Amino acid sequence: MRRLAEHAAVEVWEDELPPPYEKLLHELQTADGVLSMVTDRLDAATIAAAPRLRAISNLAVGVDNIDLAAASARGIPVGHTPGVLTEATADLAFGLLMAVARRIVEGDRYVREGRWQSWGPRTLLGREIFGATLGIIGMGAIGQAMTRRAAGFAMRVLYATRGAPAAAPPGAQHVSLETLLRESDFVSVHTPLTAATRHLLGAREFALMKPGAIVINAARGPIIDQQALTQALASGHLGGAGLDVIDLEPIDPTDPLLGLAGVVITPHIGSASHAARERMAELAVDNIIAGLRGEMPAFCANPEVKIAAR
Ligand code: DGY
Repeated sequence: MRRLAEHAAVEVWEDELPPPYEKLLHELQTADGVLSMVTDRLDAATIAAAPRLRAISNLAVGVDNIDLAAASARGIPVGHTPGVLTEATADLAFGLLMAVARRIVEGDRYVREGRWQSWGPRTLLGREIFGATLGIIGMGAIGQAMTRRAAGFAMRVLYATRGAPAAAPPGAQHVSLETLLRESDFVSVHTPLTAATRHLLGAREFALMKPGAIVINAARGPIIDQQALTQALASGHLGGAGLDVIDLEPIDPTDPLLGLAGVVITPHIGSASHAARERMAELAVDNIIAGLRGEMPAFCANPEVKIAAR
């Protein structure tokens, strides 16, 4: 806030909940720049309703909440925060994998509910992680960080990408999505949400997966067809899911996913370490200041943009 205030008159949406869409439309009518959260939908209509807008900076690496084409068409650069949240997000994804495999959250509930009467040879048996096969969908920075974590558990790592990745991370094998689904004990999603990846995993893909396999998603909810996932879990075909993101956030408390054993859900906290969020804030501020000055932000999600002359 201090740095922003040196460069612009700043209006802050103070509420814990994001501004309603209509409010956002209204507020942006007079804004030169917007520092947005993933919960702010900056679609073509919002951008069209903001005649003065010349810089957008998203406090996130993912920019699926922003219509990049509409921003580019207006000459508006869209800043984002890659790199600084890679390790934090991979930590959370791997943590979910461990929590689901070894029933850690269930174990905690079991203790709090006073059900821990004795050590039992079959109490809360889970899946072994060491030496298992991990399938990583999308091998960007976070997928690579997952691969490094998997190495510590002697996991066999398979990965699938839409194009050929620049360099295969050591110890990981590039395979088709189908092979990955058929052979993995754990499937972890690390791809951005785009038109091409929406519902990338649905009923057909879950049917291909090994019985008892576990799905992890710390990327974006809509990459998974949530209804199909719920069915695959409820039928007992899949063994569990660790989800930091879901289709419509926040989850409806009556959502059937919440009634299923073997499902651990966290509230989109992949990047929520103190250090990562501080670095994200610094980058987001750098990006918006550059954009307001008519310069390219250092981390720009629409690098093809031709910044409009003022
Ligand atoms: C991102 O950066 O895209 C996360 O989802 C929010 O930290």
